[in-house]
Amino acid sequence: MLASENHSNYIIETVDLVKKFGKVIALRGVNFRVGYNEVVGLVGDNGAGKSTLVKTLFGVYPPTSGYIIVKGRKFRRLSPELAYKLGIVLVHQERTLAFNHSVWRNVYMGRELTGRFGFLKIKEMKEGAAKALDELGLKKLPPDVPVKNLSGGYRQGVQISRALTFEADVVILDEPTIQLSLAEVQKVLEYVRSLKKRGKSAVFISHNIYHVYPVADRFVILERGQIIGEFYKKDVTPEEVSDIMIYIASTGKFPPKYKDINLIAS
Ligand SMILES: Nc1ncnc2c1ncn2[C@@H]1O[C@H](COP(=O)(O)OP(=O)(O)OP(=O)(O)O)[C@@H](O)[C@H]1O
Ligand SMILES: [Mg+2]
Repeated sequence: MLASENHSNYIIETVDLVKKFGKVIALRGVNFRVGYNEVVGLVGDNGAGKSTLVKTLFGVYPPTSGYIIVKGRKFRRLSPELAYKLGIVLVHQERTLAFNHSVWRNVYMGRELTGRFGFLKIKEMKEGAAKALDELGLKKLPPDVPVKNLSGGYRQGVQISRALTFEADVVILDEPTIQLSLAEVQKVLEYVRSLKKRGKSAVFISHNIYHVYPVADRFVILERGQIIGEFYKKDVTPEEVSDIMIYIASTGKFPPKYKDINLIAS
């Protein structure tokens, strides 16, 4: 941790975050930070704890210990409702869709638009869903279709549309490009660029360095529940990030060759 840094420099910060699932320690004291108007690429091997970290940030899991600071406010734990209120949205890695429901219902699930007396604003939600799908290049997808009839890529699009219909300050995307075609990947990357242009922040989790590299400002590498590397994109090429990842996968350590760019003391 850099002693001179001030909490207010970050929109989100976790402090010594620990998360245990019974005997499994998924997070071992993680100090993860996202700056204002910054895109953070969160990378690391399978089981490193990336999804657990972002789910804890979004309030799906309570931390075992440690805390979270959002916009200068300290929280022992969040809930998804509170996270939404604070301007955080998470696009889950697992498909969290209700298969029998229509596309538009899924896009607004948990955040339904209601008018006076609690009536659902169906027309607005259908229009909002259509607009979000259009922005993602999924123009042909009618908002009334049940999600169970869609292909994997379209289902992914529905998940991402949830974030699009909600003007969040921090958008967390957990493996958003995994089932997508090349053209669809480009749309997701454009969306992240548009967030950056609008002054927002994002966390982008991906196994594919070539997806995350073009949009990230900074990379954070999680390995077995700990951050072992953190560096700015300007200091590395995609090939070097790849090189670093391969070294870590086989040794569990940050490569000494690149230690000068690492913001974490090893
Ligand atoms: N709900 C849970 N119950 C028990 N163990 C869990 C749970 N969620 C995650 N774990 C464990 O915590 C560790 C971290 O898992 P996590 O899903 O956060 O990794 P990840 O970095 O997102 O991996 P991947 O790249 O495969 O998505 C793993 O050992 C996993 O088995
Ligand atoms: Mg994951």
